[in-house]
Amino acid sequence: MLKNILTGDRPTGKLHIGHYVGSLSSRLKLQEKGDYDDFFIMIADAQALTDNADNPKKIRENILNVAIDYLSVGIDPQKVHIFVQSEVSELTELTFYYSNLVTVSRLGRNPTVKQEIKTRNFEESIPVGFFTYPISQAADITAFKASIVPVGDDQLPMIEQTREIVRTFNRIYGEVLVEPKELLPANEACLRLPGIDGNAKMSKSLGNCIYLSDSYEQLKSKVMGMYTDPLHIKVEDPGHIKGNTVFTYLDAFSTDEDFAKYYPEYRNLDELKKAYQKGGVGDVKIKKFLLQILDNFLSPIREKRKYYEEHLDEVYNILKEGTMYAESIAKQTLKDAKNAMMLNYFDDEQLLKDFNQK
Ligand code: TRP
Repeated sequence: MLKNILTGDRPTGKLHIGHYVGSLSSRLKLQEKGDYDDFFIMIADAQALTDNADNPKKIRENILNVAIDYLSVGIDPQKVHIFVQSEVSELTELTFYYSNLVTVSRLGRNPTVKQEIKTRNFEESIPVGFFTYPISQAADITAFKASIVPVGDDQLPMIEQTREIVRTFNRIYGEVLVEPKELLPANEACLRLPGIDGNAKMSKSLGNCIYLSDSYEQLKSKVMGMYTDPLHIKVEDPGHIKGNTVFTYLDAFSTDEDFAKYYPEYRNLDELKKAYQKGGVGDVKIKKFLLQILDNFLSPIREKRKYYEEHLDEVYNILKEGTMYAESIAKQTLKDAKNAMMLNYFDDEQLLKDFNQK
């Protein structure tokens, strides 16, 4: 059986280290494993427009930002097709047909969309395109016959909706579409990295992100200003680990080798945590340790970014080739779907025969 993987991101801003631990790192692992036929990563500009219709410039600017972020962390265009959603018009056509298979009340029950409507203060003025984007996401997934969709848990309702559409479509029109399965990040603790201010989520609007493109100076000022434990005032005071952002980041990024190299007083994170809880470990010390680790992590990414920023034509060609390939696959699926729906009048001689037999 064909094994295709598809995932994507809305290009509404540069990617941050939360994206790395939440999704980019597992994409890299999948890429290295190579256990697939085709692997697609889609820049979901059309979906981003569903709640940014008045700001096309923002989306346009971030197409290249996101593409360079992918390439800088090591997504390999020889192994993965990176493409732009709006350039594959087959996706909008599929969305139109799938819309017939979904009810308004079903869309209204989608918990992620409900939450997004709240945070965006749409109240009664929800754009229809935004309300129905789960249908378009089903088109994204099925157009590429993706059986595996690596996503965060907030995307589960979209995958569930996609499976429902696939089942309904296949029941009515015949087996054409493939039912997808989500692939969640393996490490629960890494599912969501908090912001540097301790807020549960890193988000551009909160201004609490560490970007993959941050310079050393930016990184330093962010790490040294990070939220720790407000009750840990003097070095000798016992400190708390839970909700302490520095430790959450150390959980995600530090290794025993980092301790051996930069913090030999402790063998590993468990030992440091115990000492911190007891009292006697200063916040500046743990922040400097984290800074070193994050700088080691970001510096090869910065190098690669520099290369791609100086070779934008290469980035452009990667996107163009990825998009052309993606379109060729989506075209075939659309054709199969339309055949199944009997929308194939001009390449099906049966049309006239059926008419004559009446
Ligand atoms: N909804 C996803 C996000 O906000 C982006 C996306 C669009 C996507 N289409 C997709 C993800 C298809 C996985 C599969 O990040």
